[in-house]
Amino acid sequence: MAKYAGSKLLYLATAAMGLGLANSQQASNFDVPTEVAESHSCDALCQQIIAQMNVLDLGTFGTNFDFDFYATAANFSESKPGDLLKLLPLRNSSAISNAPEGVTVYKFQYTSAAVDGAPVPVTGLIALPPAKNDSRSNLVAFAHGTTGLYRGCAPSTYTQLFNDDGWPRAVAAGYAVVVSDFAGLGNNYTEHLYLSKAQANDVYYSVLAAQKAFPQRLSPEWVSLGHSQGGGVTWQLSEHKLVQDASSGYLGGVALAPPTKLSDQFQSALRNIQSNSSTADQIQTFLTTIPPTTLGLQRYFPGDYDAPLLTEKVKERVELAGIGQLCLYALGGLMLDLTPNDVFLNLNNTDDSLMQKFQALNSPAQGDPAEKPLLVIHGSADILVSPQSSKASFDASCGYGNILHRTVYEGRDHGSVLKDSSTEWIQFIADRFAGKDFGSTCTESVVGGSEL
Ligand SMILES: *[C@@H]1O[C@H](CO)[C@@H](O)[C@H](O)[C@H]1NC(C)=O
Ligand SMILES: *[C@@H]1O[C@H](CO)[C@@H](O)[C@H](O)[C@H]1NC(C)=O
Ligand SMILES: *[C@@H]1O[C@H](CO)[C@@H](O)[C@H](O)[C@H]1NC(C)=O
Ligand SMILES: *[C@@H]1O[C@H](CO)[C@@H](O)[C@H](O)[C@H]1NC(C)=O
Ligand SMILES: *[C@@H]1O[C@H](CO)[C@@H](O)[C@H](O)[C@H]1NC(C)=O
Ligand SMILES: *[C@@H]1O[C@H](CO)[C@@H](O)[C@H](O)[C@H]1NC(C)=O
Repeated sequence: MAKYAGSKLLYLATAAMGLGLANSQQASNFDVPTEVAESHSCDALCQQIIAQMNVLDLGTFGTNFDFDFYATAANFSESKPGDLLKLLPLRNSSAISNAPEGVTVYKFQYTSAAVDGAPVPVTGLIALPPAKNDSRSNLVAFAHGTTGLYRGCAPSTYTQLFNDDGWPRAVAAGYAVVVSDFAGLGNNYTEHLYLSKAQANDVYYSVLAAQKAFPQRLSPEWVSLGHSQGGGVTWQLSEHKLVQDASSGYLGGVALAPPTKLSDQFQSALRNIQSNSSTADQIQTFLTTIPPTTLGLQRYFPGDYDAPLLTEKVKERVELAGIGQLCLYALGGLMLDLTPNDVFLNLNNTDDSLMQKFQALNSPAQGDPAEKPLLVIHGSADILVSPQSSKASFDASCGYGNILHRTVYEGRDHGSVLKDSSTEWIQFIADRFAGKDFGSTCTESVVGGSEL
């Protein structure tokens, strides 16, 4: 069996070289050797889950990582945030085989700012709709959901870029779209600081760099759109100092299924488990968020975050994520065979002071002003990011005097709400470019399941 697999791999490698793809290389979801897994509290079942999830992730991210493109540009050191570093047209690539007729797609590398303001290289995509006599296209900046925390988990490496339910719909509606991978995904100059304010910088500077790449093709004004992790980014961005100035061109944003306050959500999930009011699906979904959250906090507080609520077993498992460079499915898969009692030292103890500090430093809806409209959209059946959490942040932000609208889609879950609310968010984007009034009050509405 091993011999067969080996010779098949050799055959595939030779075939790839014959096609001139000698650079094709895998950058994520490596096999974790049995001895390594076993020394990290990952038994046969756990190993089997990782192997299965690796297949799923590699189907999304592929094994043809363009190390040259994702490497830091030679002229990065002389650059400042918002500068363009690299621009690569994707022609005849299988990744864009289902792009709408006439749409052109580029990978790009640009300079963003880290949480401390230091320049950092970031990669992403720019998609342009068919040009009407080289006229300008209105620009949308898309903030993506969680794909993983390692370089090989970058959305711009997707084997099928237009399978995404988010930004391709904006392209189909005639918008130019810029999609940041976020720092640490794709390029590896820094690590991805999951859920931090770094991602709002990455979106802001992706717009500046895209406008430098296509100064005659893109509108100076832009709207942000984000889903899941990216929904939280859009909300953070709406309160970012840089977009309060009209000269930024920022017109407003849409936050879909956004996580806003990490610690509050974590505590509420723990309380629900403790009071026996969570379903099995809710518990399992919550547990899959433990590895990315833990890694994010370890990176944000280097050397200081010791995950005080978690068992040793789980901390050892989380170390496997870096060893295998596991993307989203395999990362969550590290928890799939565990129960809350395997994961938490004591369900009664919910005190994690660094998680609270992280929330205080990175969350929106804590009193900062947002000058432009924000539309929040949530599915009532979302078990990954609870609708109550965006309601709480909506109430808080409205209480501070910001103007937000929030729509709940009955029966929609974390994923389906993106596609099923697209009529509303495409209209919101059109209204911002048309200069329509957003009103002067916060409003809430519900779209019933049968109306869709
Ligand atoms: C870096 O080099 C690229 C390619 O030569 C160029 O397009 C880009 O403008 C340069 N950026 C800066 C900031 O010098
Ligand atoms: C892309 O494909 C078209 C049609 O198949 C072909 O005419 C063109 O030369 C190709 N372009 C590149 C850059 O390979
Ligand atoms: C585009 O250019 C063509 C040819 O120059 C012209 O006939 C057409 O009216 C133009 N369309 C627009 C929308 O300006
Ligand atoms: C980034 O990746 C390259 C190529 O795999 C590697 O040589 C380099 O050490 C990495 N840099 C960092 C900061 O991890
Ligand atoms: C929790 O709920 C389950 C199913 O409803 C029930 O079997 C179990 O006894 C409950 N446990 C506690 C501690 O209430
Ligand atoms: C958690 O708290 C409950 C009620 O306060 C108590 O009955 C239970 O023993 C505690 N569990 C643990 C593991 O400490």
